[in-house]
Order: sequence, then C-alpha cells, then structure tokens
Amino acid sequence: MSELVITARVLSPVTPQAAVLEDVAFLIDECGNIQERAAKGDALYAALSAREDVRRMPSDSLLIPGVTDLHIHAPQWPQAGMALDEPLERWLGVYTFPLESRYDDVFFAEKVYSDLVRTLLENGTTTALYFATIHEETSLTLARICLEKGQRGFVGLVAMDNADLCPPTYRHADAQQALDATRRFIAAVRALPGNEGGLVQPVITPRFIPACSDALLKGLGELAAETGVRVQTHASESDWEHRHVLERTGKTDTEALDGFGLLRDATVLAHAGFLNATDRAWVRARNAALAHCPISNAFFAGAALPVRTVLDEHTRCGLGTDISGGYSPSIFENARQAVVTSRLLESGVDPDRSPGERGRPDSRITFQEAFWLATRGGAEALGTSAGQLLPGQAFDALEIRNGRGGLRLSPSDDAERCVQKIVCHVTAENIVRVWVSGRMVVDKVDN
Ligand code: GUN
Ligand code: FE
Repeated sequence: MSELVITARVLSPVTPQAAVLEDVAFLIDECGNIQERAAKGDALYAALSAREDVRRMPSDSLLIPGVTDLHIHAPQWPQAGMALDEPLERWLGVYTFPLESRYDDVFFAEKVYSDLVRTLLENGTTTALYFATIHEETSLTLARICLEKGQRGFVGLVAMDNADLCPPTYRHADAQQALDATRRFIAAVRALPGNEGGLVQPVITPRFIPACSDALLKGLGELAAETGVRVQTHASESDWEHRHVLERTGKTDTEALDGFGLLRDATVLAHAGFLNATDRAWVRARNAALAHCPISNAFFAGAALPVRTVLDEHTRCGLGTDISGGYSPSIFENARQAVVTSRLLESGVDPDRSPGERGRPDSRITFQEAFWLATRGGAEALGTSAGQLLPGQAFDALEIRNGRGGLRLSPSDDAERCVQKIVCHVTAENIVRVWVSGRMVVDKVDN
C-alpha cells in the first residue's frame, strides 16, 4: 500500500467525556498507520493539503473512527432476529447448539461468514472479536474471510467439553481434544497467507464455565500463558449462569476464571452484569475488559450492566452485539441501547412504584460515553492502537455522509451535538466508506 493523504472534517473521542470536531489533514504510512494529524491552520495542514495526491473528503461528510464489536457469535448470524423466546439455558439447547453444529459444512460456513463480515463492515465495524464454533476448518474460514475483506478480526475456536451441558453432537470429546484443537487453531491463524501483518489474530475461547470441565479451563489458562494469546469468554451473564458457577466452584465467574489463569491482559468477559465490585477490581488489576451487550442483556441477563459505575471506576469496557442473543449487527444500535438502558436503570420502569423507589439513581451514561465505548473503549479492551484517529494509531475510519438516513448535521453543531446525532442516527445507509489500517474496504459512493 502506498502513502495516503486525506483532508476531512473529523469527529473523534479524546476521553470518555469529550470529543473534538476539527478540519484535519492526515498522513497515513504504507502500513496504514497515522503518521501525522494536522489541524487546519497548522503549517503541516497547509503542506499536506497542497500535495498532488491529497484526497479531499466532501464537505457533507464527517470522518469518525471505526467501531469495535467486542462480542459476536459469527455462526449465529442466520438466527439473528429470531428465537429469543427461551431463557439462555434453554435457548442454547433448543436453537443455538443445533445451529452451531452445522458448521462442519464448509459451503454453509463460507456463505454465512462472507455475508456477516461484509454486513459488519458496512455497519462500520472495523474490528470484531468473534466466537466461531468448535470446528477447526470453518473457524479458519472465518479468519480467512476477515483477512480477504480487510476486517481486523480476533477469532476464537470455541472450546467446550462438558457432557452435562453440551450435546454429544456438539462438544469436544474431552479436555485434551479441545486443547489440541485450540493449539492447532492458533498456529493455523498465525500462518494464514497474507496475515504477516497480524490483521487477524486467534483467541482462546472457553465458551463459558458451565460448558467446560475444570481440566479444560486449567489447560486453556496454561496455553494462554505459554502463547500470550488473548482470551474471551462469557461471565456472570444471567441469574442462572451466575448461580450455576457459584454452586459448582464456590466462586464467582471472575474469581474462578482468575484461578484457572484465564483472567489476563486483554481478556474480554462478555455481559458481566452480575460482577460485584471485587470482581471488577480483579478485572482492572489484570488489564482485562468487559463487553457490554445491552440488546442481548434485555433478553437473557435479567439485569442491566451498571455502565455508569464501570466507567467511573475505570474498568475497561467496549460494546458487543452478541449476535444472536442480540438481533442487530450494528454497534451504533448497541450504543443507542446502552444509553437507553442506562436511563431505564436510573429511572426504573414500573409505573406502579413511586419515582423515588423506581430506579437506581445516577446510572445514566451520555451519548458521548457511548461513542467512546464503541470506538476507543473497544480498541483499548483488545490492546489495539486504534479508535481515536490519533498519530500512531491505525487508520480505521468511517466516512459518514450527512443527509442520508436520519442524519441531519448542521454547520453550527458543536462536537457534543454531533456526537449525539452520530450515535443516534448512524446506520449502514450513511456509512459510505470504511477504511481498516488505511485500506478502503467499503466504498459506496462516487464522490
Ligand atoms: N453463554 C454461553 N454461550 C452463549 C451464547 O452463545 N450466547 C450468549 N448470549 N450467552 C452464552
Ligand atoms: Fe455471547
């Protein structure tokens, strides 16, 4: 890839509470990293914008950082928007394990995974942390499709061996088989042709404690320490799941995962609504993070993650779609729902209770904070240098075209207003171009 020079009006988060809106010139190096970011008025801006190879973004476009989906089940894409009539523990057995067991079919997997990765890119998801299935060949297919389409992909071969919970048709025969498969998968992803830059990374993925034997969890913790590969799992998602782990191990999910060596730098715990303050202190101590999945939580969790507290105590956190516990492939939709859920947690929802007894005070988060969670929050969770369009970070960016869909930005809107409108109104309809590490991976307009 050759060097890129772009001038654009940019909206990017600075902290969880603040964003900047400015005219910027970028110099992007051959590796797709931002070498220079110069604001209008600087000498460097003038020099870059005078270059012959400059690409000028139209005045009705706004450039924002790409977003991260910090928790998504790729094989569940065919059932997104259906099958949400059962509680989690039944939903897994009735719908989800039977669907996931079909991914020994390469043709089926190719079709679903290609469609999903394209859809996510069109929705602005430049980075995704995926659960695949237990099947090595097609989980590698997902990694290859991310690479081909240019998405930054963190892909996990799911490990699950507990016969009490997992059906015989969809589980590893024993811990050793799951460990051997995970080890092979790590090597295979790292060796994918074209992946020399590491755009796609393997992830150690125990499904959740109930689906795994102690031997498997311990073995995966040792493998993480040996290889330095990131870990993802579900933790304290619902009353049932949280209680199940307490009864089996005498510990919370977080304590138990830490005991197995699975709570590590950049470990992502999905859902995590029932973590207590001590659990979250361990998450911070280990540099791990939470994936907040507000849509899914409305169906399965039975409670809302207290994101206000999570942000105030500086626990790392990003947003996940949790396809198909959540129905939407859009992180922007989940950002909206994160704001809405926090407001409902604050006010409460039962009109028969008096206002003072209805909710949990001081629980709201702002649109600005949701913008942070979607962009820098997710990137920070994974330890990737992206999410703010700053020098040194990857050029992972979205061109948003004003006037499309419901988006109506006005020239007098300041950064805060723009953030509100962006979070509320960005859809695939107004995301017209997408770049990942400087490579344009979606291009839907001529000008
Ligand atoms: N816990 C274990 N597996 C799953 C899954 O596929 N989705 C959700 N939401 N929770 C899980
Ligand atoms: Fe999930």
